[in-house]
Amino acid sequence: MPGQAASSAVSTFPWGRRHLTCSLRAVSARTMANFVELSTKAKVPILGLGTWKSGLGEVREAVKGAIDIGYRHLDCAYVYENEHEVGEAIQEKIQEKAVKREELFIVSKLWPTFMEKHLVRESCQKTLKDLRLDYLDLYVIHFLQALQPGEDLIPKDDKGDTISSKTTFLDTWEAVEELVDEGLVKNIGISNFNHFQIERLLNKPGLKYKPVINQVECHPYLTQEKLIQYCQSKGISATAYSPLGCPNRSGAKPEDPSLLEDPKINEIAAKHKKSAAQASVLWCLGLAALTHVGSSRNRDRTSIPGMVLIRFHIQRHVIVIPKSVTLARIAENFQVFDFKLSDEEMATLLSLNRDWRYYPFHWLKSLEEYPLYAEY
Ligand SMILES: NC(=O)c1ccc[n+]([C@@H]2O[C@H](COP(=O)([O-])OP(=O)(O)OC[C@H]3O[C@@H](n4cnc5c(N)ncnc54)[C@H](OP(=O)(O)O)[C@@H]3O)[C@@H](O)[C@H]2O)c1
Repeated sequence: MPGQAASSAVSTFPWGRRHLTCSLRAVSARTMANFVELSTKAKVPILGLGTWKSGLGEVREAVKGAIDIGYRHLDCAYVYENEHEVGEAIQEKIQEKAVKREELFIVSKLWPTFMEKHLVRESCQKTLKDLRLDYLDLYVIHFLQALQPGEDLIPKDDKGDTISSKTTFLDTWEAVEELVDEGLVKNIGISNFNHFQIERLLNKPGLKYKPVINQVECHPYLTQEKLIQYCQSKGISATAYSPLGCPNRSGAKPEDPSLLEDPKINEIAAKHKKSAAQASVLWCLGLAALTHVGSSRNRDRTSIPGMVLIRFHIQRHVIVIPKSVTLARIAENFQVFDFKLSDEEMATLLSLNRDWRYYPFHWLKSLEEYPLYAEY
């Protein structure tokens, strides 16, 4: 179990968790200046913690551990069905004065069955209540196709086809803009939009607020160069999801390409092994499992490629939100600010592009707003 791996990494530390937490905070403090500035001038920590598939009973410790390590950006969503536990973890950390609310950047997303205008506010308030917050730093339209409201997250008809709603994302955007005016959210954004759809939104008559972020799948097999360039030219920042190729995704086939096992990515990773000095600091912090000098029992062979895959986005000024519920990996994924990929290595990573999507959204395919028909 991932949760068990996390607690054993901590319990092996001889001076106890409290000391580990303080030391990690000191180590991470120097990395705190790594932000992307949005068009609203809000600053987003470039590295956040993803929480999709972070199960109940494990996400609380993951979020608390992440905050101790130095993460200040959490990526949440109504549909992840764990926001209440994320909220409890945030509150605990605020109450013990490990972090202040204003130091955190909390993202959530509006699910398509709530895209009808009269449901938007209610959905946002449900998320705020679960997360125990007064405001969100960013609220994102999760998918651009509105679906029939109701209990089912993906409503289907008798033939098994997804049932849409007549509401368009342009209608929804007006309701989302109202959330900004009401102070419930500070910034608003989009997810999974292609550039034609973004263009439609930007050209919407009476547009009050522009989206600040487009959150999309992105990694070396799907580099999204054109879409990112387009977004950035319009003042829209990009967030990369599934940066590690989401190895735990449902429906994964053995023949699917694996980023973490890619020989070129591993070759680059091997060149960026932690130095002996860094390794000994991590060892002292009880995190030997994060280094390549730990015992072979503790060594995680997939760990270092993960750092390269995260660093890849940081050097492109793309926000990145790897998910983990394993404390050792959460800590390791944060160790990406003390090395730099060379121009040649970045070029190699970009050359791996094959427009491969781990998430082709089959359930949206028959619907009007299916975004992946366009080249970008
Ligand atoms: N807007 C959208 O439509 C959308 C879609 C997908 C995802 N997202 C967001 O993006 C986040 C990240 O994407 P994702 O969850 O799809 O996938 P991901 O971050 O690419 O991969 C997560 C998986 O990688 C494992 N992992 C984490 N760090 C690792 C490391 N250093 N070495 C080896 N394995 C590691 C995790 O395992 P353990 O947890 O067991 O450690 C988990 O199974 C999501 O959690 C969510 O917040 C948004």
